[in-house]
Amino acid sequence: MEIIVADTADHLDALAADRVADYIRAHPGRLLCLAAGQTPLGMMRVLLDRHRRGEIDLGAMRYAGLDDWLGLGYADAGSCAQFLRDNFYHPAGMPADRFRLFDGLTEAPEAECREMEAWIAAHGGLGLSVLGIGLNGHVGFNEPEHLVRHGPSRGCLVVDLDETTRRVSQKYFAKPLPVARGLTIGFAELAASDRILLLAGGAAKADIARRAFAENATPAVPASLLRTHPRFTVLLDPAAAAGWHGPSNTV
Ligand code: F6R
Repeated sequence: MEIIVADTADHLDALAADRVADYIRAHPGRLLCLAAGQTPLGMMRVLLDRHRRGEIDLGAMRYAGLDDWLGLGYADAGSCAQFLRDNFYHPAGMPADRFRLFDGLTEAPEAECREMEAWIAAHGGLGLSVLGIGLNGHVGFNEPEHLVRHGPSRGCLVVDLDETTRRVSQKYFAKPLPVARGLTIGFAELAASDRILLLAGGAAKADIARRAFAENATPAVPASLLRTHPRFTVLLDPAAAAGWHGPSNTV
């Protein structure tokens, strides 16, 4: 595991964009899996700027959305589908046949999972996965309770959301909206990515980042299980590293 502490939050965005750009140049055509949420937004803006300046070609890649709330679709503010389309795919001018997102409005969630699995398989498996970390240590919607009970899931799955995720979800919605289940790429599928970049920024993430990357690995903190991945990089801003991590290192 490589842990890098950026100088500032903006520096984290730039370093994350550098890593993604390097991957795009080295592996054009591979599948990039992107989390939604507050964490990767700055990185996406940097990538879009570089794309517009012709420094990278985001269109060279294929994309898979990491997860979404079951019951919410593109029209719903706070859905991952809306976030990714409005903040990344549309501004990048990405043709629709280059990316696949979970359809949270599906009436057949299991079939939706099989379709995402087929998309991933058809493009050679996940190349680079860019993840955030939830306050409970989840990656995607691979929730602690699920990992503890069932272990890492292959393929994609429908998950019952933990209490923490249901509570935190409200920060994404304009008005209170109960969410109970999610669609996600499973932990084992993510762990099979060629390369994984996990970003964490802000003081609110310091405690869970310490538990995930400085204490014993445990399914109760799903992100901690990524530490055995051979090409796993954690990028932190100073606030997320505060109190537990010194200079950047590789362990
Ligand atoms: C979102 C996702 C989640 C988030 C995590 C952190 O697609 O997969 O695992 O990455 O909950 O969310 P933010 O970045 O909003 O703090």
